[in-house]
Amino acid sequence: MTEQQPAPENPEGDEPIKQRKNGLYPGVSDELAENMKSGWADTELRDLQPIAQAQETARRRAELSARFPGERLVIPAGNLKTRSNDTEYSFRASTEYVYLTGDQTQDSVLVLEPTGAEGHKATLYLLPRSNRENGEFWLDGMGELWVGRRHSLTEAATLYGAPCEDVRELADALRAATGPVRCVRGHDAGIETALTDKVTAERDEELRVFISGQRLVKDAFEIGELQKAVDSTARGFEDVVKVLDKAEATSERYIEGTFFLRARVEGNDVGYGSICAAGPHATTLHWVRNDGQVRSGDLLLLDAGVETTTLYTADITRTLPINGTYSELQRKIYDAVYDAQEAGIAAVKPGAKFRDFHDAAQRVLAERLVEWGLLEGPVERALELGLQRRWTLHGTGHMLGLDVHDCAVARTETYVDGVLEPGMVLTVEPGLYFQADDVTVPEEYRGIGVRIEDDILVTEDGNRNLSAALPRTSTDVEAWMANLKR
Ligand code: GLY
Ligand code: MN
Ligand code: MN
Repeated sequence: MTEQQPAPENPEGDEPIKQRKNGLYPGVSDELAENMKSGWADTELRDLQPIAQAQETARRRAELSARFPGERLVIPAGNLKTRSNDTEYSFRASTEYVYLTGDQTQDSVLVLEPTGAEGHKATLYLLPRSNRENGEFWLDGMGELWVGRRHSLTEAATLYGAPCEDVRELADALRAATGPVRCVRGHDAGIETALTDKVTAERDEELRVFISGQRLVKDAFEIGELQKAVDSTARGFEDVVKVLDKAEATSERYIEGTFFLRARVEGNDVGYGSICAAGPHATTLHWVRNDGQVRSGDLLLLDAGVETTTLYTADITRTLPINGTYSELQRKIYDAVYDAQEAGIAAVKPGAKFRDFHDAAQRVLAERLVEWGLLEGPVERALELGLQRRWTLHGTGHMLGLDVHDCAVARTETYVDGVLEPGMVLTVEPGLYFQADDVTVPEEYRGIGVRIEDDILVTEDGNRNLSAALPRTSTDVEAWMANLKR
């Protein structure tokens, strides 16, 4: 990486134009400083169109406004996190900010300012284009010469359909402001400090919970983006199948890297750390170390999702025979998980309880475990006591959207204890996991883990499997792999 030049030990003359973020003072002559101020073309973009989701973001802000009349609402995007010195971790704007604006830039803040008893004025506070007169453009670590061109406030107003102001003035304005205020916490320490004396944790949490609940039912734009995420993810899974021989020669990392390439080329990133779990690693639910061997004869549990450029993520799992053919026992376990998933998917429909698809899948798995002699019957008793959970381990699914575990703080009555509605998107992902050291099951079961996970949209009359393009039955998986490896 390039580093700015350190200052001479005893700089003579005027102070440097601006201190760099990490404290280094470049030695800058007056003549160079003058020279750098001018000779730059006007690059203002004058024919921009609003972003595709501008109408939806406006509607979401209006819903929020109606819920909190007369209150100032502050929704930060978040800040960069330093990795070391002047190097930062990659930035991902807060879900709340992205949902309400469509913008993804760091340090930005959405403020809904009450306009009397009803209604709010929404303003996006953003870092404007770099000043070239004072040298910030090329001497500041966040100057555009270093980090790239930003949108002007005028450009941003067109893109996001709301007036835009300089975010560097926001903290002082918030400090000076009076009246009730709420802030989404956890993203911007500077803004939270400015509001310390004006907010309470409880009221702020109500704001966060409301926005989480707002996101439960997806609009047409969101469903389109989720479909794009799923389609890219399906291509990423195909990429992986094509390089399984290279993974066998190296490690699970080859699978992670292969999927990541697809995610970065077609989307923004992966929506969560890819789980590339070969052999017994498949029994570790969040295996993201991905440093293990990939062996012919074992299964590969691949749980991965592309996040689109608009930040919607897929969440798909397939459990594949590395050599292309399931063994008899692998197939028996796989087919049981498939049957459980079928029962789960069938229970996804409007009016059904959120818990129904979990219960349906668990019942099938418990029945098989009893049938195989691993779990003592009767099935009803095992289900009542949850005894099958030694091998089923986790919930059968969750909402999906901007976050992989979406709407996580929505009110229990509307999510976990709630009823499914058209427009909700959720995963159905039963699994069976026999730990390598589980001496309660026959030896041949140990180290086998199977999960099948699809992304399901609740429709007016049932559901649609957004990830149906990827095969699910054991025989379809084998045929698909054989075709890809030809
Ligand atoms: N990848 C995490 C999950 O499936 O929920
Ligand atoms: Mn998953
Ligand atoms: Mn999931």
